[in-house]
Amino acid sequence: MIEHFERFGLLINDSVVRTPIAIASMAGIVDADYVLKRASHIGLAFIGGYSIDEPAMRAAREMAAGGRDEFLFDDPIPEIKAQAGKLAKTDVVTGINLRACTPGAFSDAADKLGDTVVYEIDAHCRQQPMVEVGSGEYYLHNPRILAECVKTLKSHDVTVSVKIRAGVGQDDVALARALWRAGADIIHVDLMDFGYQKLRQIRNSCPVMLIANNSINSFDRVKEMFSHGADLVSLGRRSDEHTLSGLDAAITRYADEHGWYNSPKQLCRGGDIRALAFCCMPVKNCPLIPTLAKIGISREQYVELKERSVKGTPLESGQHTCFGSLAWCCKDSSPCMFREMSIEQGHLTGREYMRQKRTLSERILEEVFSETPVDEQG
Ligand SMILES: Cc1cc2nc3c(=O)[nH]c(=O)nc-3n(C[C@H](O)[C@H](O)[C@H](O)COP(=O)(O)O)c2cc1C
Ligand code: SF4
Ligand code: SF4
Repeated sequence: MIEHFERFGLLINDSVVRTPIAIASMAGIVDADYVLKRASHIGLAFIGGYSIDEPAMRAAREMAAGGRDEFLFDDPIPEIKAQAGKLAKTDVVTGINLRACTPGAFSDAADKLGDTVVYEIDAHCRQQPMVEVGSGEYYLHNPRILAECVKTLKSHDVTVSVKIRAGVGQDDVALARALWRAGADIIHVDLMDFGYQKLRQIRNSCPVMLIANNSINSFDRVKEMFSHGADLVSLGRRSDEHTLSGLDAAITRYADEHGWYNSPKQLCRGGDIRALAFCCMPVKNCPLIPTLAKIGISREQYVELKERSVKGTPLESGQHTCFGSLAWCCKDSSPCMFREMSIEQGHLTGREYMRQKRTLSERILEEVFSETPVDEQG
């Protein structure tokens, strides 16, 4: 697993994630056996959704009567325990997608199931019976109750993901910040038709791990998500072995070649906030200036932050580059002989250069998001 950690640097629920591909839950379909068949191509799987309190179970029965596949159990907890147990022997990080109507119901589940699984709150299901009982998409219209569910789960010291659908709530950015503030570890976002622009907005507003979802079935789509803020991608309908293995191979190849599997596009090419790691000194009128204003950092603070962050690292060198240090240098996709020369002189490889840039971006983000935000929900 060290090899996987070196390649992707991803930890979820204290476990190394072998590849940044997840299986998204599909009620009645995605259980442990479904995941086991695909285990060698994925890093994370959300089994379920499981309805775990009486109103959600009632709604699920109604949905099943209407022709939908559902997991229906009179006593769901032992079943979830058994399913999660089957996956415990694999190196797939296990998540359980849960439908429930109160923070108390999530709390009961955490009491009984413990901390070996990731708890995913289903705030995504738009089936009328589920929404009417106060679960699924209901939470997107009632973000304060959703935040209470997150806080309650976090009080059990478990890893929490929230599955949302973009464009349903009043303000997705405010929602993401409220979830961050409540302690969510992961936001799993079904982007619908909003695409990477919505993902970038969320990336730029909080430091939470992001899983991008919806029709991410080709490597081009995966790269689009990774270069605008996704840490992982997830697949539901097309989570067949052929698609998953192809994506896994392509992502692995890209990571081994470039060193930073989800590096952002440069800021002036539409990249997200992580791209500050590739930005120049603030000497011209370009997208850097409004970005700094938006995140509330002065030009002087930005310069000081980058200089401090690369101190003692290989990025400090580079006297023949435009600004005298690799700290200000561009992404590997922009050819530049001065940067290449400096990389060589510093006994770095292109791959190591990009890994150093990743570390720099993490330091920048740590500082930008060092304070939890004020509650935009009021
Ligand atoms: C049959 C089916 C059942 C689903 N059940 C759930 C569910 O229980 N919980 C949930 O959060 N999402 C559920 N989803 C949504 C998927 O996880 C995913 O967000 C959606 O299908 C879009 O991603 P895709 O294009 O990769 O399929 C379901 C989707 C399908 C097609
Ligand atoms: S600082 Fe450089 S890399 Fe960043 S937006 Fe401006 S021109 Fe682009
Ligand atoms: S030296 Fe090359 S890579 Fe570095 S900032 Fe100048 S143009 Fe960009």
